[in-house]
Amino acid sequence: MSRLIKVAKIEEINEKLKIKIEDEEILLIRENNSIYAVSNTCSHQEKELFCGFLENGAWVCPHHGARFDIKTGEALSMPAVEGIKSYNVKMADGEIFIEMED
Ligand code: FES
Repeated sequence: MSRLIKVAKIEEINEKLKIKIEDEEILLIRENNSIYAVSNTCSHQEKELFCGFLENGAWVCPHHGARFDIKTGEALSMPAVEGIKSYNVKMADGEIFIEMED
């Protein structure tokens, strides 16, 4: 089962926003008119991704430069070898919802 959780208004995100749902820290990333959601924790050394930046569809970890696909969470470059979790995002009436698995 999954459920949709309202997390923010679209206008609240210029570039990125950090949110927490239950125990999961999630990074919302805006690319043009789309919003993506991935884990806020790097798979390399479990450090926070929030202070990184977006580059050509990838989020770059601020610590050692690993890159993750913002759509899938796939690890695109070393030193990360494992991906990070990605979440389905829905937008309706100016609000952002994230699909969480039970
Ligand atoms: S903690 Fe992200 S690349 Fe090392």
